[in-house]
Amino acid sequence: MYKNIFNSLREAALVKNNQNTRRIKGEPVPAPQKPYPADSQLIALPEPDFLPDHEVSFLELMELRSTIRLYSEEMLTLKELSYLLWCTQGVKAVLPAGVTKRTVPSAGARNALETYLYIDKVEGLASGLYRFLAIEHALLPVDTSEGVKDRLRKGFNKINMFDECAVTFMWTAVLDRMEYYFGGRSLQYIFLDAGHVCQNLYLASYTLNIGCCAIGHFNDEELNQELDLDGAEEFMVYAAHVGKIR
Ligand SMILES: Cc1cc2nc3c(=O)[nH]c(=O)nc-3n(C[C@H](O)[C@H](O)[C@H](O)COP(=O)(O)O)c2cc1C
Repeated sequence: MYKNIFNSLREAALVKNNQNTRRIKGEPVPAPQKPYPADSQLIALPEPDFLPDHEVSFLELMELRSTIRLYSEEMLTLKELSYLLWCTQGVKAVLPAGVTKRTVPSAGARNALETYLYIDKVEGLASGLYRFLAIEHALLPVDTSEGVKDRLRKGFNKINMFDECAVTFMWTAVLDRMEYYFGGRSLQYIFLDAGHVCQNLYLASYTLNIGCCAIGHFNDEELNQELDLDGAEEFMVYAAHVGKIR
């Protein structure tokens, strides 16, 4: 898999024009969000309009943002989680033709990322695996059965952080959404987009006094398997732990 990604990135570096893409051929636009069963019980998140704003000096934010790897037992509130999700993937507008405008920039506004969450310490939520539905600003429970934490743990290397944090963000990419526009350059853009998302998580976390650690060192195959992804059409890109600072 790594070899494939590496080769694709090298090839992509040589692609100057986005020729022969499905967009140019006039094929249907991919949906801006992965579908989910119609009878799902969604968990509504506090509306972004009602989230508390946190006054912060921009230069202070630049100076003091740093990676934090030690977390307390304290729970996050649902509002805090909602704020972090809004700042990382919040949908500000849904435009025609499968375009969403979000709180983060994205190449071609393709927004090919999905956010999975292992939630362990959030008031009012059962521990388990969830997916953030950015358009609905809601959570989709994926697996809250016992044992899900142990299965996901296999995907991480610094187990202490996974065990102690309040929430682990896992960003996956739906390749089709980016490929439709950008063909061979898609992987580059997906990874660049993910950087913006995680940076917003760092900055938003800082304003709430929440610690954040980006995680690039995870086990792709294990996490793809636990998230039920095929590793080709959709695959793990990036992760981050967050939690109240110890
Ligand atoms: C792409 C990326 C991947 C990272 N992966 C990990 C990781 O797997 N484990 C970890 O402990 N920190 C990880 N980090 C955090 C970096 O180690 C950290 O940003 C760096 O040491 C600089 O420290 P600072 O964030 O406090 O400025 C990652 C950061 C980035 C940007």
